[in-house]
Amino acid sequence: MKTIVKNNLSDKYSKGTIIIHWLSFLLIIALIPTGIIMADMEAGTAKLNLLQLHVLVGIIVFVLTLVRVWFFFRHKRPSKLETGNALHNKLVVWIENSFYYILILLCITGIATIVMGNIGEALQSADASLLPENLDIPPRYAHKVSAILLIILLLGHIGGVINHYIKNKENTIKRITP
Ligand code: HEM
Ligand code: HEM
Repeated sequence: MKTIVKNNLSDKYSKGTIIIHWLSFLLIIALIPTGIIMADMEAGTAKLNLLQLHVLVGIIVFVLTLVRVWFFFRHKRPSKLETGNALHNKLVVWIENSFYYILILLCITGIATIVMGNIGEALQSADASLLPENLDIPPRYAHKVSAILLIILLLGHIGGVINHYIKNKENTIKRITP
């Protein structure tokens, strides 16, 4: 049997949250491939250039995420999305909240990889010869696992939007657009 529920789609997230949501999305879409490509590259100028870009964009996402956390507590949020299934309602909130933890974890493990992997000097002096040959250190492993978890969450998140549209004929993107 089809579940048709009605949500008030004009009940939206705040403008600040909306801007950060889409800006972060675009930046994360750039971070994932740059991360994957440079992880397999030999130390050299091309890797250093990608690393500089990755770190710069990563730090912007970190700052945006901290502001987003502040908005989470300070800005009024819309009523919880009603999906027609109590467990599914909880899953929506769980995925959204997990994004916050994973993004912070990604940024902290990224910074820890730079510090513990001694990459800072190569980045500062833009000297590729200072890049370490081997980066097999725990924070880099944690960074990779966090990136995989983020991708899984993102697939669940986008799948949820499509599933809700098909089942309930509601475009929930309206809640996260001005
Ligand atoms: C949302 C934020 C971020 C995402 C989605 C992301 C994603 C990734 C991915 C997918 C990799 C490849 C992992 C592997 O296969 O080993 C990677 C590597 C890396 N990332 Fe990030 N990253 C983010 C933020 C950051 C930040 C903030 C920093 C540092 C300030 C950073 C520094 C690094 C470093 C140093 C590597 C290892 C590069 C190498 O192998 O030489 N990342 N990142
Ligand atoms: C890595 C990228 C993404 C992250 C980290 C993310 C994270 C979030 C978070 C945390 C929320 C709750 C609002 C907030 O506190 O900011 C949210 C809401 C939402 N996102 Fe995303 N999102 C991403 C990409 C996308 C994409 C590509 C779509 C489009 C298919 C999308 C559609 C939505 C919708 C429709 C909502 C509102 C859900 C509701 O009604 O509660 N998101 N997202």
